[in-house]
Amino acid sequence: MAKFTSFTNMVLVALTMGVLQVANGQAAAACARNYTVQPGDFCDKISASQNVSTYQLATVNSAIINPDCSNLFVDEVICLGLVGQDCDQVHVVASGDACSVIAAQANITTAVLLANNPNVNTGCANIYPGEVLCVAPA
Ligand SMILES: *[C@@H]1O[C@H](CO)[C@@H](O)[C@H](O)[C@H]1NC(C)=O
Ligand SMILES: *[C@@H]1O[C@H](CO)[C@@H](O)[C@H](O)[C@H]1NC(C)=O
Ligand SMILES: *[C@@H]1O[C@H](CO)[C@@H](O)[C@H](O)[C@H]1NC(C)=O
Repeated sequence: MAKFTSFTNMVLVALTMGVLQVANGQAAAACARNYTVQPGDFCDKISASQNVSTYQLATVNSAIINPDCSNLFVDEVICLGLVGQDCDQVHVVASGDACSVIAAQANITTAVLLANNPNVNTGCANIYPGEVLCVAPA
Protein backbone atom coordinates (compact mmCIF):
# COMPACT_ATOMS: atom_id res chain seq x y z
CA MET A 1 0.00 0.00 0.00
CA ALA A 2 2.87 2.31 0.85
CA LYS A 3 4.42 1.45 -2.52
CA PHE A 4 1.15 2.07 -4.34
CA THR A 5 0.74 5.40 -2.58
CA SER A 6 4.21 6.61 -3.48
CA PHE A 7 3.70 5.50 -7.11
CA THR A 8 0.38 7.36 -7.16
CA ASN A 9 2.07 10.41 -5.75
CA MET A 10 4.78 10.23 -8.41
CA VAL A 11 2.14 10.05 -11.14
CA LEU A 12 0.33 13.01 -9.61
CA VAL A 13 3.55 15.02 -9.40
CA ALA A 14 4.42 14.16 -13.01
CA LEU A 15 0.93 15.09 -14.19
CA THR A 16 1.03 18.34 -12.24
CA MET A 17 4.42 19.23 -13.71
CA GLY A 18 3.14 18.48 -17.20
CA VAL A 19 0.10 20.67 -16.70
CA LEU A 20 2.27 23.48 -15.35
CA GLN A 21 4.62 23.17 -18.31
CA VAL A 22 1.70 23.41 -20.73
CA ALA A 23 0.35 26.43 -18.85
CA ASN A 24 3.77 28.09 -18.91
CA GLY A 25 4.18 27.36 -22.62
CA GLN A 26 0.90 29.07 -23.38
CA ALA A 27 1.61 32.06 -21.17
CA ALA A 28 5.04 32.53 -22.74
CA ALA A 29 3.95 32.23 -26.40
CA ALA A 30 6.83 33.67 -28.38
CA CYS A 31 6.54 36.90 -30.27
CA ALA A 32 6.47 36.35 -34.03
CA ARG A 33 7.16 39.98 -34.95
CA ASN A 34 8.64 42.82 -32.92
CA TYR A 35 8.33 46.48 -33.81
CA THR A 36 10.12 49.55 -32.45
CA VAL A 37 7.87 52.58 -32.04
CA GLN A 38 8.85 55.52 -34.29
CA PRO A 39 8.21 59.24 -33.80
CA GLY A 40 4.66 60.13 -34.86
CA ASP A 41 3.35 56.58 -34.47
CA PHE A 42 -0.08 55.77 -33.12
CA CYS A 43 -1.59 52.31 -32.83
CA ASP A 44 -3.66 52.25 -36.03
CA LYS A 45 -0.78 53.78 -38.00
CA ILE A 46 1.49 50.96 -36.84
CA SER A 47 -1.24 48.43 -37.57
CA ALA A 48 -1.74 49.69 -41.12
CA SER A 49 1.96 49.90 -41.95
CA GLN A 50 2.88 46.58 -40.37
CA ASN A 51 -0.11 44.46 -41.42
CA VAL A 52 -1.50 43.76 -37.98
CA SER A 53 -5.12 44.21 -36.97
CA THR A 54 -6.21 46.86 -34.48
CA TYR A 55 -7.57 44.08 -32.26
CA GLN A 56 -4.40 41.95 -32.39
CA LEU A 57 -2.08 44.88 -31.66
CA ALA A 58 -4.18 45.88 -28.64
CA THR A 59 -4.61 42.34 -27.33
CA VAL A 60 -0.99 41.22 -27.66
CA ASN A 61 0.18 44.43 -25.94
CA SER A 62 -2.59 44.79 -23.38
CA ALA A 63 -0.05 44.76 -20.56
CA ILE A 64 1.89 47.76 -21.91
CA ILE A 65 -0.41 49.76 -24.19
CA ASN A 66 -3.48 51.36 -22.61
CA PRO A 67 -6.94 51.03 -24.21
CA ASP A 68 -6.84 54.42 -25.93
CA CYS A 69 -3.22 53.89 -27.00
CA SER A 70 -2.04 57.15 -25.47
CA ASN A 71 1.06 55.82 -23.74
CA LEU A 72 3.25 54.71 -26.67
CA PHE A 73 6.78 56.06 -26.57
CA VAL A 74 9.54 56.30 -29.18
CA ASP A 75 11.92 53.30 -29.18
CA GLU A 76 9.44 51.21 -27.20
CA VAL A 77 9.54 47.62 -28.49
CA ILE A 78 6.11 46.11 -28.95
CA CYS A 79 5.04 42.69 -30.22
CA LEU A 80 2.87 42.62 -33.33
CA GLY A 81 1.75 39.00 -33.11
CA LEU A 82 2.34 35.75 -31.26
CA VAL A 83 3.69 32.65 -32.97
CA GLY A 84 0.76 30.58 -34.23
CA GLN A 85 -1.77 33.39 -33.71
CA ASP A 86 -0.38 36.04 -36.00
CA CYS A 87 -2.77 37.41 -38.62
CA ASP A 88 -0.90 39.49 -41.20
CA GLN A 89 -3.61 39.71 -43.89
CA VAL A 90 -5.39 42.95 -43.20
CA HIS A 91 -7.75 45.57 -44.60
CA VAL A 92 -7.63 49.21 -43.54
CA VAL A 93 -11.20 50.47 -43.16
CA ALA A 94 -12.08 53.32 -45.54
CA SER A 95 -14.91 55.78 -45.16
CA GLY A 96 -18.16 54.08 -46.22
CA ASP A 97 -16.79 50.54 -45.90
CA ALA A 98 -19.19 47.80 -44.82
CA CYS A 99 -18.22 44.43 -43.38
CA SER A 100 -20.02 42.53 -46.15
CA VAL A 101 -18.01 44.39 -48.80
CA ILE A 102 -14.70 44.05 -46.96
CA ALA A 103 -15.35 40.33 -46.51
CA ALA A 104 -16.30 39.83 -50.16
CA GLN A 105 -13.15 41.66 -51.32
CA ALA A 106 -11.09 39.32 -49.14
CA ASN A 107 -13.03 36.26 -50.32
CA ILE A 108 -14.17 35.39 -46.80
CA THR A 109 -17.59 35.33 -45.20
CA THR A 110 -18.77 38.11 -42.93
CA ALA A 111 -18.90 35.52 -40.14
CA VAL A 112 -15.18 34.81 -40.57
CA LEU A 113 -14.44 38.54 -40.66
CA LEU A 114 -16.33 39.03 -37.38
CA ALA A 115 -14.64 36.00 -35.80
CA ASN A 116 -11.24 37.41 -36.82
CA ASN A 117 -12.02 40.76 -35.23
CA PRO A 118 -13.83 40.30 -31.90
CA ASN A 119 -13.80 44.07 -31.34
CA VAL A 120 -16.28 44.52 -34.22
CA ASN A 121 -19.90 44.21 -33.11
CA THR A 122 -22.39 41.85 -34.73
CA GLY A 123 -24.01 44.54 -36.83
CA CYS A 124 -20.59 45.85 -37.88
CA ALA A 125 -21.76 49.29 -36.76
CA ASN A 126 -18.62 50.21 -34.83
CA ILE A 127 -15.92 50.04 -37.50
CA TYR A 128 -14.20 53.34 -38.28
CA PRO A 129 -11.94 54.69 -41.04
CA GLY A 130 -8.33 53.79 -40.30
CA GLU A 131 -9.20 50.73 -38.24
CA VAL A 132 -7.28 47.67 -39.36
CA LEU A 133 -9.16 44.39 -39.70
CA CYS A 134 -7.81 40.85 -40.04
CA VAL A 135 -9.13 39.35 -43.29
CA ALA A 136 -7.39 35.98 -43.11
CA PRO A 137 -9.44 32.97 -44.23
CA ALA A 138 -9.45 31.42 -40.75
C1 LIG B 1 11.32 40.17 -29.86
O1 LIG B 1 11.91 40.84 -28.76
C2 LIG B 1 12.13 40.00 -27.65
C3 LIG B 1 12.60 40.84 -26.50
O2 LIG B 1 13.64 41.70 -26.89
C4 LIG B 1 13.14 38.92 -28.04
O3 LIG B 1 13.36 38.04 -26.96
C5 LIG B 1 12.58 38.14 -29.23
O4 LIG B 1 13.56 37.21 -29.69
C6 LIG B 1 12.20 39.05 -30.36
N1 LIG B 1 11.50 38.26 -31.36
C7 LIG B 1 11.65 38.47 -32.66
C8 LIG B 1 10.85 37.58 -33.54
O5 LIG B 1 12.38 39.34 -33.11
C1 LIG C 1 1.90 44.22 -45.89
O1 LIG C 1 1.12 43.46 -46.80
C2 LIG C 1 1.26 43.93 -48.13
C3 LIG C 1 0.28 43.14 -48.98
O2 LIG C 1 0.43 41.77 -48.79
C4 LIG C 1 2.72 43.74 -48.56
O3 LIG C 1 2.88 44.21 -49.88
C5 LIG C 1 3.62 44.52 -47.62
O4 LIG C 1 4.98 44.27 -47.94
C6 LIG C 1 3.38 44.12 -46.17
N1 LIG C 1 4.15 44.99 -45.30
C7 LIG C 1 4.80 44.53 -44.23
C8 LIG C 1 5.55 45.54 -43.42
O5 LIG C 1 4.80 43.36 -43.92
C1 LIG D 1 -12.37 32.10 -52.55
O1 LIG D 1 -12.58 31.12 -51.55
C2 LIG D 1 -13.11 29.92 -52.02
C3 LIG D 1 -13.46 29.06 -50.81
O2 LIG D 1 -12.51 29.16 -49.81
C4 LIG D 1 -12.06 29.27 -52.93
O3 LIG D 1 -12.55 28.06 -53.43
C5 LIG D 1 -11.77 30.24 -54.10
O4 LIG D 1 -10.73 29.71 -54.89
C6 LIG D 1 -11.35 31.58 -53.57
N1 LIG D 1 -11.23 32.54 -54.69
C7 LIG D 1 -10.23 33.39 -54.77
C8 LIG D 1 -10.28 34.32 -55.95
O5 LIG D 1 -9.31 33.44 -53.96
